[in-house]
Amino acid sequence: MREEPKKAHLLGFIQHGVNSHATGMWRNTKDKIGWHFSRPQYWQHMARTMERGLFDAMFIADELAPYSTHDDSSDATVKWAVQCPTHEPSTIVPIIAGATEHLGVGVTLSTMFVHPYAMCRLLSSLDHLSNGRVAWNVVSSYSKSEWEAYGHVDMTPRSERYDKMEEYMEVCYQLWDSWEPDAIIADKESGIYADPAKVRVVDHQGKYFKCKGRHFCAPSPQGRPVIWQAGSSGRGRDFAARHAEAIFAVHPGVERMRQYADDLNERLETTFNRPAGSVKLIYGLQTVVAETRSEAEDKYERIKACIPLEGALAWISGHFGLDFSKMDLDENVKNLEVPGIQGLFESIIYAKDPKGLVPVTVKEAALIYAQGMGMPVAVGTAKDVADQIESYMDDGGADGFMLAATYTPGCYEEFVDLVVPELQRRGRYRTAYPGDTLRANLAAD
Ligand SMILES: Cc1cc2nc3c(=O)[nH]c(=O)nc-3n(C[C@H](O)[C@H](O)[C@H](O)COP(=O)(O)O)c2cc1C
Repeated sequence: MREEPKKAHLLGFIQHGVNSHATGMWRNTKDKIGWHFSRPQYWQHMARTMERGLFDAMFIADELAPYSTHDDSSDATVKWAVQCPTHEPSTIVPIIAGATEHLGVGVTLSTMFVHPYAMCRLLSSLDHLSNGRVAWNVVSSYSKSEWEAYGHVDMTPRSERYDKMEEYMEVCYQLWDSWEPDAIIADKESGIYADPAKVRVVDHQGKYFKCKGRHFCAPSPQGRPVIWQAGSSGRGRDFAARHAEAIFAVHPGVERMRQYADDLNERLETTFNRPAGSVKLIYGLQTVVAETRSEAEDKYERIKACIPLEGALAWISGHFGLDFSKMDLDENVKNLEVPGIQGLFESIIYAKDPKGLVPVTVKEAALIYAQGMGMPVAVGTAKDVADQIESYMDDGGADGFMLAATYTPGCYEEFVDLVVPELQRRGRYRTAYPGDTLRANLAAD
């Protein structure tokens, strides 16, 4: 039995772009005052702020091209800055790591258009450069625009994407594990640098990938990056239960969180022979905090007022793979299997009621989603936000939260200054980093 209540893990959920996950964020008068998203100083400041708040990591989400599902065009995406422009995510990892000592960096990299050999080399290099603080959010490119940008007419269906990802991981593990810990001798006298008998040649001839060669990087501090995953369909949950050390999900309320936690723990135990609770469950949360409730509510109204409806429709079209421009705004959204991100689609279907019985119109769905990807929002004082966090941990099974930006860097500064001390006072948050690597920090209670 656990004697103390569990402590929260926190991650800052952002993108290497102007807007991250709140559509219209860039218009907010509090957004990026004196900062530019594409400059190192902004990332250094974001990183130091999150480290000051003892966050486990910054989580850099990504997609590979502007969404084009809405009206068969990316016009609305470009016009309303719907996660666009977005710059390449791995390029900022050394900047973030260089500005901090403990903060981890989780980087989203798609397995669909990069050979596993190149992926392993990139991630091992980043793990070295960050002194063992890198995580990889493994994704499979859910949007048709990504496939078209990379020269494919059709997108590989979900189930085959997961088959391919399974084999991808197999190749990656072989490469990362191919150097034995004592392979490097570095004896200047004899001139022998490494013992070839201890550096295995990987020879993989599979259905989707072929790879013959030795991993080009020396073993990195964590050996492998920490594996993160956010698939929510049945296949996605299985993939996560097999491979992930932390799983990310968005659920609008405690009932859905609890169902998800129970489902995942059952998969871990019954199918994958891993103990329940061995994978950290990180839920999406957006917070709007201020000294008083009315101040927080005013801020929240200003955040919502920044959302452009057409941009919101373009975003849900992109994420779910359905063209919402063709639908009546007052039509109810149907619960169906979507080609895009199933788990996030469900966060909309269940937005008003945990059983999904209260219908959500297209317009409502777009506006709920555009605000912060369907995440619950905690609006109020530090006490109010901490109460909500505690309830999601105790009743919803959450181990931690990915905090979606509302305006940057201000929303993280406010969270760190106001909510972190409140959580610490309640014994629900760490007061120092427990470990030397991201894996160790994430594994700590
Ligand atoms: C919280 C959350 C964050 C995600 N972030 C990304 C991302 O940054 N890039 C991406 O390509 N997919 C992202 N995804 C999509 C998933 O990782 C997954 O590839 C997609 O949901 C399709 O699988 P599914 O149908 O099993 O959910 C995210 C999903 C969730 C739930």
